[in-house]
Amino acid sequence: MQLISTTADLRARLAGEKSVAFVPTMGNLHEGHLDLVRIAREQGSCVVVSIFVNPLQFGPSEDFDKYPRTLEADCAKLQGLADVVFAPAINDMYPSQQTIFVEPPPIANELCGAARPGHFRGMATVVLKLLNIVQPQVAVFGKKDYQQLHIIRRMVAELNLPVRIVGGETVRAPDGLALSSRNQYLNADERAEAAFLSRTLRGMRDAILRGERDVERFQRDAVTALSARGWAVDYVAVRNQSDLLPASLAQREWVILAAARLGNTRLLDNVEVALAG
Ligand code: PAF
Repeated sequence: MQLISTTADLRARLAGEKSVAFVPTMGNLHEGHLDLVRIAREQGSCVVVSIFVNPLQFGPSEDFDKYPRTLEADCAKLQGLADVVFAPAINDMYPSQQTIFVEPPPIANELCGAARPGHFRGMATVVLKLLNIVQPQVAVFGKKDYQQLHIIRRMVAELNLPVRIVGGETVRAPDGLALSSRNQYLNADERAEAAFLSRTLRGMRDAILRGERDVERFQRDAVTALSARGWAVDYVAVRNQSDLLPASLAQREWVILAAARLGNTRLLDNVEVALAG
């Protein structure tokens, strides 16, 4: 495995590669990321993982400076899984002030975007830059960041980018908690409580599968149940998988998404549900 830190060296290394599969990350890797890398291995003969903490997608009150940088440990985890780790410096990704941005669709202002203005614009901009630098045939993103994956798919379709996007299933701890770099910030009590988020979403999914359709009530009940246990809920929402708009009976594939804070840690989760018939 090769560690490369400049765009020029990466271009030289990848010249002539016919089948590149790419996993963009911000590092601090866990089993969820490694699963995406394994998926990439099935999709291409050269697997590139980028590790870059992108300042453009952090708001002024967010944790850009505190975001864990663990390059050495990340590279150790990627040994035998990736061919190339691309870990550019900020000056290499942004040699001058970035003045051109990807303007994401209006759905970027809802759900996570409502609490994080500008986040998806910064995310989409860096993903476009990384796709242009790596020029992969396939790029793999986790479904845990469902709204992110949706926006990337829209960007690739609407900007005619020559890359196939693959969504990897969320990897979970045995109690159901979705793996996330943020889980390490939970104290012991919070960690024990954290799995309640996925239990809540699974309960909503099971109710929908039983034929219940009062989505507004589910959403309200879930917020009430989480709040009663000390969660600060950003949203619990049942949406169409295709456009992330509020779930409509005309669409048969829904997704239940939630973001909520336990103490200072904001956790995300989602569960897909396909309506019968
Ligand atoms: O999901 C992430 O880790 C980041 O948002 C991404 C896609 C690597 C862009 O910085």
